[in-house]
Amino acid sequence: MSTFQAPKGTYDLIPPRSAKFLAVREAISAPLKNSGYGYIETPGFENVELFARGVGESTDIVSKEMYAFETKGGTKLALRPEGTASVLRAALEANLHKAGNLPVKLWYSGSYYRYERPQAGRYRHFSQVGAEAIGAEDPALDAELIILADQAYRTLGLREFRILLNSLGDKECRPVYRDALQEFLRELDLDEDTRRRIEINPLRVLDDKRADVQKQLVGAPMLRDYLCDACKAYHEEVRELLTAAGVAFEDDEKLVRGLDYYTRTTFEFVHDGLGSQSAVGGGGRYDGLSEMIGGPELPSVGWALGVDRTVLALEAEGIELELPASTSVFAVPLGEEARRVLFGVVTELRREGIATDFAFGGRGLKGAMKSANRSGARYAIVAGERDLAEGVVQIKNMESGEQSAVALGLVVEELRRRLAS
Ligand code: HAM
Repeated sequence: MSTFQAPKGTYDLIPPRSAKFLAVREAISAPLKNSGYGYIETPGFENVELFARGVGESTDIVSKEMYAFETKGGTKLALRPEGTASVLRAALEANLHKAGNLPVKLWYSGSYYRYERPQAGRYRHFSQVGAEAIGAEDPALDAELIILADQAYRTLGLREFRILLNSLGDKECRPVYRDALQEFLRELDLDEDTRRRIEINPLRVLDDKRADVQKQLVGAPMLRDYLCDACKAYHEEVRELLTAAGVAFEDDEKLVRGLDYYTRTTFEFVHDGLGSQSAVGGGGRYDGLSEMIGGPELPSVGWALGVDRTVLALEAEGIELELPASTSVFAVPLGEEARRVLFGVVTELRREGIATDFAFGGRGLKGAMKSANRSGARYAIVAGERDLAEGVVQIKNMESGEQSAVALGLVVEELRRRLAS
């Protein structure tokens, strides 16, 4: 293996594509910042116990995909496979829920790790932007989060995504359904692994993608028919609020998410241009998670959107984001004296907030102009000995090729004026 190769299932974000990732993170977080969510950052690893208890021992994420390890001091840690358990742990640790201001609304952005079989859109290191609203049971909060994710995707220009919505019931009605489903599934002709899953996590069996399994699932009891009145009313209210906000969604009673903590509202954003890894984001309510990790009762809801897959979705729809050019002015010195003078101008321009770059490395005019072109700058400033003797530099419009001499002391002002127009 070459030492220049990133580990399997990972990739580097490099310019110019990396700019899209920054823009996507910004677009997803902007509506959250605008809606009372505060920024939180938690460690890249946690005690393994947090995820085992929070995400669930029976999930693939914990049982197969976690990067768990023991430190030299004997502590069992895991790289975080997701953000919700960590954010809730941090909120409890800081007693944010006791500050008398519920829900505690937080957003985050970071890297997550899952030892999955890599394929297009599925990586071992990936990036999410997420939001969690902790400590309130209110259908408007569920609706708010879905509306904000929808807004983020629309701002990015995405159109070919759909929102799948379901309710997974609560601690009253889900166990009753679970029993009924297990009873039905135990009668089917299924392999060993799937039979085991029936006992541990029967709802996941509904999610099985194999055609022969799906065929047998026809007639399986559906959760919808088991929801208690409180869950039904809650779900209906979420649906009505979304409809009133003009956010289209599809009821998907088979939507089961891969994490154990969900109750009631669950949803997924899927994009139709992405093939098998079509979930660009997902989330839901997790009213029992706080208690699962040893905290008080704190009904909560949240989501995480995958940045990698959102970028793939943009590319699938052929959307070019309007990214501001990273460089507005490029300075090309000809000779030693010009190098010193123009470097000073560059520093001045930058202090004025004008994005400026410089031809480093003492290359000739041709090579330096090539770099100026590649930088995307609107103007180049060029100066040689003769210009300096006359106290001027040349400002070249990179698009029209027009060039004019401007007094050295007026360059910054002149460029600011031209860039503003
Ligand atoms: P999740 O559905 O496991 O939910 O992940 C959310 C998003 O992260 C996915 O829709 C996908 O875009 C991205 N993602 C997940 N795994 C990978 C991977 N291997 N490669 C690339 N992208 C991936 C959660 O993580 C929950 N914590 C969401 C949540 C927040 N629920 C409540 N609050």
